[in-house]
Amino acid sequence: MSRTNSRQIHLMQYADPNGPTPESIFKLVEVTVPEPGPGEALVRNIWMSCDPGARGGMTNQKGERISLYALDAPPPAGSIGQVVQSNDPSLSAGDYVRSSRGWREYFVAPASELRKWSGEPGTSISSFGAMGGAGHTAYIGLIEAGGGITPGETVLVSAAAGSVGSYACQIAKLKGARVVGIAGSDEKCAWLEKELEVDATINYRTAGNLSEAIRQAAPEGIDLYFENVGGEHLIAAIDNMKMHGRIAVCGLIDRYSKDGMPPPHNFVQVLYKRLRIQGFIQGDHPHLDAQFEAEMGDWVRQGEIKSFETVYDGIENAPKAYAGLFTGANIGKTLVRLGPDPAI
Ligand SMILES: NC(=O)c1ccc[n+]([C@@H]2O[C@H](COP(=O)([O-])OP(=O)(O)OC[C@H]3O[C@@H](n4cnc5c(N)ncnc54)[C@H](OP(=O)(O)O)[C@@H]3O)[C@@H](O)[C@H]2O)c1
Repeated sequence: MSRTNSRQIHLMQYADPNGPTPESIFKLVEVTVPEPGPGEALVRNIWMSCDPGARGGMTNQKGERISLYALDAPPPAGSIGQVVQSNDPSLSAGDYVRSSRGWREYFVAPASELRKWSGEPGTSISSFGAMGGAGHTAYIGLIEAGGGITPGETVLVSAAAGSVGSYACQIAKLKGARVVGIAGSDEKCAWLEKELEVDATINYRTAGNLSEAIRQAAPEGIDLYFENVGGEHLIAAIDNMKMHGRIAVCGLIDRYSKDGMPPPHNFVQVLYKRLRIQGFIQGDHPHLDAQFEAEMGDWVRQGEIKSFETVYDGIENAPKAYAGLFTGANIGKTLVRLGPDPAI
């Protein structure tokens, strides 16, 4: 086996803490990937996941972030690919493996760093679907952090047409809730109502007073808010929470590009309304894994949960895909196709 030519994307500078995530902070680089050593495998990537949370490591933000990603190197990103050559008995050529080594076409890594994926050849995109990280995050947010859903409750979801948000809307509907979704375009709102049967939607870019728009969409108030955005969305949601309402804080994407965002000016309502606000991280609840796999697996098999992707083709388009998370260019899960499936 000879050395392999590959292309990868390097982070060349940190994004402005108070600005967008421009494609210009990335650079396409051609490299030669070495042969795998003992205990290592050569992998050809097929899909790379774009996740807003990674922006923290790409931003010279003061405060909460401890480690920044290295410059002139690929940042971490979830990916799935196929083993081309293995020098470890745990892996064979053709095995699908998940890793955090996105942003590159080929790579060599220790086998211990690679997690086997057991799906059928040609279906690796489904590893990012309902049973993947986004579906799991939505489930944990609603069922654990949000305290579950009683049929008839009203659930508000922000960034509703995104990856996690689209699963949160569908799970809440399946649990019998009336669902109100907030998204950034009329097209996304129409898609939410048509494809996901969301009961009411709000385009936050044209709504004007977001608090009033939520009041009109949910005059009875909100029982559970699935928070993906923060900022004005959180303020407007707090205004509309019912007494003893719950807020599951999944993400604060509006905050990722704004250093030092002030807390909500109406925070006093948390006290008056006896609200419960619970942040959560997807992987922190392994005791719910079996329950998630059983319940979500049933919904998927019965065709009750749909997965949607915005796919960018080619490593050269990975910066554009990533930047699109912050401009609202994408619907559903944002993925970059780095190579064919099967890859070898
Ligand atoms: N807690 C966890 O374990 C966990 C795990 C995964 C993800 N998350 C969080 O979940 C959230 C969604 O992640 P995702 O992967 O599903 O991404 P996504 O929703 O697929 O993509 C991000 C979406 O957010 C919206 N957005 C971007 N900037 C915004 C702003 N300033 N104000 C309002 N909306 C904005 C955009 O849609 P519009 O067109 O609607 O603006 C965009 O499409 C993120 O906050 C992420 O960090 C948390």
